[in-house]
Formats: sequence, structure tokens, C-alpha cells
Amino acid sequence: MVEVIARRGSHASPLRYPGGKATLARFFESTIKALGLDKPTYIEPYAGGAGAGIELLLKGVVGMVVINDLDPAIHACWKAMVKDSDEFLRLLKRTPLTIEEWRNQREIYRRRHDADVDPLTLGFATFYLNRTSRSGVLGAGVIGGFAQAGSYKIDARFDKDVLRDRIEKLAELSGKIRVTKQDGAARLSEYLPKDNVFAYVDPPYVEKGSSLYMSAFQEQDHIKLARVLNGYANTNWVLTYDVAELIRSLYRARDISEFRLLYSAHLRGAKDELKRPSASELIVLSNTVADALR
Ligand SMILES: C[S@@+](CC[C@H](N)C(=O)[O-])C[C@H]1O[C@@H](n2cnc3c(N)ncnc32)[C@H](O)[C@@H]1O
Repeated sequence: MVEVIARRGSHASPLRYPGGKATLARFFESTIKALGLDKPTYIEPYAGGAGAGIELLLKGVVGMVVINDLDPAIHACWKAMVKDSDEFLRLLKRTPLTIEEWRNQREIYRRRHDADVDPLTLGFATFYLNRTSRSGVLGAGVIGGFAQAGSYKIDARFDKDVLRDRIEKLAELSGKIRVTKQDGAARLSEYLPKDNVFAYVDPPYVEKGSSLYMSAFQEQDHIKLARVLNGYANTNWVLTYDVAELIRSLYRARDISEFRLLYSAHLRGAKDELKRPSASELIVLSNTVADALR
């Protein structure tokens, strides 16, 4: 059994993400060291905010980060921030933080599955809604409500200088960031057999998945992923999930334990977000990672 206490980490990713695991970066750093990997390729096949990967890249712990997400909006957002950063920064500078603009950006986001939506425009709308909606949940209401009456308003999480700084840092590292939009399990089958790879797998949750994320998992998706990960039990991966019997049973042959992390996605309103109570999650280790940490 391995104990992981996740603490509030630094914020390297420009995205807020419900259940974001940036706080695990320090645990991954010591795991990568224990495994004896030298600046490995770090892959997040269900990336979302990809907070931990970006932090590890900034610290020079990993040599390359693969950010994969099947959600077209999340993918467009990463692609735009990393590969089209000059245009993205221009949009950041000139787009106002108003309810009218929020509605505009929401309209763009709602068309995310349309082939004619420009990727930069969609990517920026995703970022805008992520930073101005409650708990960073795309599809949730605007912080402060349409009346903007409370003490937390639309701009509570949108400090343009701080965000510009984070995007500029990403742009500097763009040669070391690969952004893809494939099925996570397929991406893992491709990367896990390679040398010097470390995967952090954070798929949609079993219980809360459908309300938090746009592309939630069905039971068969959890089973398919388990088949891939158990099939590559002797490669380097760490998996986190919500506490669910299905997961305990799918990974019963692996090292599996509970850990707590700072978590805010189930709370309503920006004010409550500051309280950040901890919730229990499951962490599953590949054989190689479990051995290295023993
Ligand atoms: C739990 S979130 C990841 C959170 C992220 N690791 C973080 O800490 O910020 C799961 C992500 O998986 C994506 N997703 C859902 N189904 C997928 C699939 N089949 N392949 C790849 N990504 C998928 C969702 O769009 C969502 O962004």
C-alpha cells in the first residue's frame, strides 16, 4: 500500500479543471526518480487540464508531454494555446469580461461538434468558459450569476496577466508538447510499450463522470481501459479514479489504495471553492511503479 497526500501545488496550466490533479506533480516526480527514468515522455491520455504534466515539464523532470483528450473543445483549447499562442494571446488581450461576451463564447462552445467552427475560436471559447464558469465546469453558470451581484464576479478567476504568463511559458515549450485527440485507451496501447515513458491516467469517474465532463465513460469503457492497463502491468503508469467497487474489482490484481486530495468540483459557487475539502480517491499502480516505490 502506498500513501499519497496531495497538497495544493503551483498552477502551471492555464486551465482550471474539476478534479484537477496538478497537486500530484510532486508524487510523480519522486516516482519518476525511483523508476530511474531520464526525462521520460509523460503522457496524459485523458488530459483535461493536464496540470501535473505541464508542471513536470516546466521543472525539467520530463522531456516531453503528450496531452491527449477526445473532447473536441478541450483538444482545440490545448492546440490553440500551445501551437497558435500569438493569436491566442491577442484574443486574451482584447476579449472583454462581460455577461454579453460570456453568452457569445457559450454560443461558440455549443457548436463544438460542428465541422465549420474555427479551431482557434473554439479553443479560446473553451478557455474563456473554463475560467469564468463555476468550478471551471464547462456548461455550468457564470461565476456571480447573470446579475453579477455577489462578491465573486465573472473575472474572479481571470487575471489576464497571470494567464498570459502561463500561456507564454507553454509557447516557449511548444516543441516539447504534443497535443492529440484520440481515444485514451488506444493512445496508451501505442505509448506504453515504448521505452522511457510514464503515463498518468485520469479517466472520467465512475460515479460523478457524466455530470462533470462532456464525454463521460460507460461501464464498457472502464472495462476496455482496464484490459489495456492490466495487459501492460509491467510498464510505467499510475491511474486515479473515484472510489467505486467496479474499479476495485477491475484492478484487484494491482496495487490499489485510497488517497485524499484537495477537491472542489462538487461545490457550488466561487466562494465555496476556496474551502476545498478533501475527498477520497483510488490510486492504482502498475507493477513496475509499485516495485519502485517499495
Ligand atoms: C477526469 S478528466 C481528466 C482530468 C485531468 N487529468 C486533470 O487533472 O486536470 C477526463 C478527461 O477525459 C476526456 N475523455 C473522455 N473520454 C475520453 C476518451 N475516450 N479518450 C480520451 N479522452 C477522453 C474528457 O474530455 C476529460 O477531459
